[in-house]
Amino acid sequence: MTALTDPFPVAPDAFDGPVLVTGAGGCLGAWAVAILQASGVPVVAFDLRDDRRRPAMVMGEAGAAALAWETGDITDGKAFADLCAGHGIRAIIHLAALQVPFCAASPALGARVNVEGTINVLEAARALGIRRTAFASSVAAHGMAAGSTWQRTLYGAYKLANEQSAAVYWQDWQVPSICLRPNVVYGVGRDQGVSAGFTLALQAAARGESFDIPFTGPTSWLYAGEAAAAFIAAVSRDGDAARVFDLNGRTGTVEAGLAILRALAPDARITASGGPFPFPADMDDAPVRAHLNFPQIGIVDGIAATWRRFVALRDRGRG
Ligand SMILES: NC(=O)c1ccc[n+]([C@@H]2O[C@H](COP(=O)([O-])OP(=O)(O)OC[C@H]3O[C@@H](n4cnc5c(N)ncnc54)[C@H](O)[C@@H]3O)[C@@H](O)[C@H]2O)c1
Repeated sequence: MTALTDPFPVAPDAFDGPVLVTGAGGCLGAWAVAILQASGVPVVAFDLRDDRRRPAMVMGEAGAAALAWETGDITDGKAFADLCAGHGIRAIIHLAALQVPFCAASPALGARVNVEGTINVLEAARALGIRRTAFASSVAAHGMAAGSTWQRTLYGAYKLANEQSAAVYWQDWQVPSICLRPNVVYGVGRDQGVSAGFTLALQAAARGESFDIPFTGPTSWLYAGEAAAAFIAAVSRDGDAARVFDLNGRTGTVEAGLAILRALAPDARITASGGPFPFPADMDDAPVRAHLNFPQIGIVDGIAATWRRFVALRDRGRG
């Protein structure tokens, strides 16, 4: 069977030591550890729990079981720095976070995980002289710009705070970082957050279930593997600034995505309703593509690969 990671190999000799991925049990984390492991890059997975279900969906049970996995809470800065020191970590991809609904439900916890957690990552990089740190902001940060008409959320506020913190870590202590602002991610492992609707619909269709996607109209299509590959590219060489880039993927409508699904699965009982997603669908990501080298995955290919994997997982009783 074609591996989902096949389009995204990286050269192991670009890395001078182990890469630590926070939030490795999440969607993008699962893809990041899968691509790194498939490429032969030493990787340490870090998450609150040792729950390898999403990595296993991407890389298979055996690959996920073979991962070096550390459990810990990103809000514990000392434990995190000690762990990085203990593994001789040379690069950090920081993806652990609470998404929009969880920040709205528990604002203080959201601030601790999303803001303090990122400070702890930057502190570890400062203490250990790590010059390769990449972390996730979000399209939601655009909602917080002065005069923005996009939706304002606590999640977006926390993400913007992280971008500003990283700028100060560079200014005051020359800790370099690359911050990527992903737009709507789809693909295997995407099952939580406000924008997971299309992927949940694909999974439901593979199970023969009906599903209503809670938004319509223009949206971005950022394949999870492509996003993870961008984070990996961001730590494939030493940093020289605190940079922030939008990462959009393709732009298309939910309805066009449904047409692609119906061509793959004519009997799928999937609908879409509601208004458009409350964030821009067409951020310019030419700057990140000029700075970093990573593959682009078209909407048809991304949906087809996701569909095939969900069908295979269903057939193995793991869908
Ligand atoms: N998925 C998207 O569409 C999208 C879009 C824009 C930005 N992002 C950002 O990209 C990053 C990854 O997103 P994702 O979709 O993989 O998220 P996810 O929700 O699937 O995974 C997040 C992971 O973080 C872990 N985590 C939460 N709290 C933790 C803590 N205190 N300590 C350690 N680990 C903790 C969770 O257990 C989970 O495995 C996040 O920062 C997210 O905000 C995602």
